[in-house]
Amino acid sequence: MAFEFIIHNPDELPRAAKTILDGCAGKKVFAFFGEMGSGKTTIIKAMCRELGVHSKAVSPSFAIVNEYSGPAPVFHIDLYRLNNVNEALDVGIEEYLASGNYCFIEWAELIINLLPEETVMVKISVGANNERLVSVETNFSKQILKRG
Ligand SMILES: Nc1ncnc2c1ncn2[C@@H]1O[C@H](COP(=O)(O)OP(=O)(O)O)[C@@H](O)[C@H]1O
Ligand SMILES: [Mg+2]
Repeated sequence: MAFEFIIHNPDELPRAAKTILDGCAGKKVFAFFGEMGSGKTTIIKAMCRELGVHSKAVSPSFAIVNEYSGPAPVFHIDLYRLNNVNEALDVGIEEYLASGNYCFIEWAELIINLLPEETVMVKISVGANNERLVSVETNFSKQILKRG
């Protein structure tokens, strides 16, 4: 299943977060693709709020994995500063992916071969008027990713 929508301005972020979560009911692993500044972190934070998280359990801003507590733990994983898949394995990426908890992953290209088949791909790009074009694909396929 696939769907697309536009975020015209930041006021629409809560609605966008709900759209993604409701449209992907039952899915727990979400991989975000888009260039630096496209809005990956921003929409992940909106999704965390939508899930009712109330605090970061571990909060250094340089952390690779931020765990948010709430009704259920939510893991926000940013692989930008890692160099290779072994470093991702060292931070326990496989345990997070298999935990059954929500995992929102930035720069998931690094671990593309570790992502479960059920991973939702969320692609974000910036439009001419600073709007965000969001495309959500629930049938994860490495082939689709390769084709861009
Ligand atoms: N939907 C949006 N509309 C307008 N500005 C946005 C939107 N999403 C993100 N931004 C802005 O874009 C910048 C980069 O966002 P960020 O989420 O950090 O991007 P990324 O994680 O992809 O590098 C921030 O200044 C943020 O406020
Ligand atoms: Mg980011």
